[in-house]
Amino acid sequence: MDRILIRGGAPLRGQVHIRGSKNSTLPLMAACILAEAPCELHNVPCLHDVFTMDKLLSAMGMTIEFTGRYLTLDASDMGEPLAPYDLVRKMRASFFVLGPLLARYGQAKVSLPGGCAIGTRPVDIHLKGLEALGAHVSIEDGYVLAKGPLKGADITLDFPSVGATENLMMAATRADGVTRISNAAREPEIADLGHFLNSLGAQISGAGTDLITIVGVDELGGGQHTVIPDRVEAGTFLLAGLATHGDVTAQNANADHLSSFLNKLRGTGGEIEIHANRIRVAAPNGLRAVDVTTQPYPGFPTDLQAQMMAMLCVAEGASVIKETVFENRFMQVGELVRMGADIEVDSNAAVVRGVNNLRGAPVMASDLRASAALIVAGLSATKGETAIHRVYHIDRGYERIEERLSALGADIERIQD
Ligand code: UD1
Repeated sequence: MDRILIRGGAPLRGQVHIRGSKNSTLPLMAACILAEAPCELHNVPCLHDVFTMDKLLSAMGMTIEFTGRYLTLDASDMGEPLAPYDLVRKMRASFFVLGPLLARYGQAKVSLPGGCAIGTRPVDIHLKGLEALGAHVSIEDGYVLAKGPLKGADITLDFPSVGATENLMMAATRADGVTRISNAAREPEIADLGHFLNSLGAQISGAGTDLITIVGVDELGGGQHTVIPDRVEAGTFLLAGLATHGDVTAQNANADHLSSFLNKLRGTGGEIEIHANRIRVAAPNGLRAVDVTTQPYPGFPTDLQAQMMAMLCVAEGASVIKETVFENRFMQVGELVRMGADIEVDSNAAVVRGVNNLRGAPVMASDLRASAALIVAGLSATKGETAIHRVYHIDRGYERIEERLSALGADIERIQD
């Protein structure tokens, strides 16, 4: 298994090109199940999660080609609407195929995704929504069996779940009649999915707001779409810049998708310049503590909480970080403490008292964003070497991160075992 070695302390300086959003690409790929003609996605990131979705869709008979940053997906010859356990267990986002399979084939059999490091992550909201659309849903031997036909309905989500909103939106595109999803998640990735589906012939309005209206249509055609920039990747590079007292510009980033995050960075003393599609940060006067509470969009993103914590470990003063979206998302804390951080956790809140310096240490990545936090911490550690084990987590969501950080001046390398 590969390791990442970091000798920290060098201020990161320069520009980094932000890739397309992982969390947009995965549902967009699943949405291609709905299309009766080939689709093209542009600005697709080269990530393990994208390869996993490729394998799953290919196993169901979709023809997929991935060249450069382009994906072509053709679902015209798809076979059995079955997503097997072996593929679904690798990535929770595989569950996104349920809604489109059901909409296109009138039935689907999809393995339950199971738990993961950051919590039990149930799928009750997805299933309740599909039942409201008229699906008959049962669970047998670890699989969800769902049968149509689907009819438009008014659905109010118990919580604005991103995945459930996307699954239901896709299912409703070909349902009979009008569906209204209230308390829908408002993440930019949902608006992106809405734009793509509409370009295929769907009739969706309000995607990206808390009320989405979908008028069912008989058929969707093919189309082309450019994936939005990855806001979490942009945020991670910007935090690495600040934590190392550097000056980093994220190119091809969308500042509108990062408003509450950027406001918090301003609160820490970060100086932020926003241009058309660039965000530049530096903190020439040092960093100070700030309190952060994660919330569904447009609140502070849970996917940047761990990396923000890593940066606050070296900010002056005490910060309180509250995680309200996931039940167990402080996996990075134990490892940060091994690097000299001062963090106390009480249920879903962590108090981070800033220290002057972190020290490098061997650490273990536990999930995608926790790994990114360890990289931010390792880059800012002024003494010693940080060896991050289990880096396959990072490859799920960040493309060749060590090369891109090196280009910004980091002393970082991947060691292949
Ligand atoms: C998506 C993102 C993930 C991000 C998360 C929250 C993708 C591929 N992943 O995950 O990076 O961290 O949104 O912004 O887009 N819940 C239920 N029942 C359900 C569904 C969710 O209780 O049926 C709970 C979850 O356990 C969690 C919370 O709702 O506590 C948020 O989950 P959700 O918004 O669904 O996240 P995902 O779509 O899985």
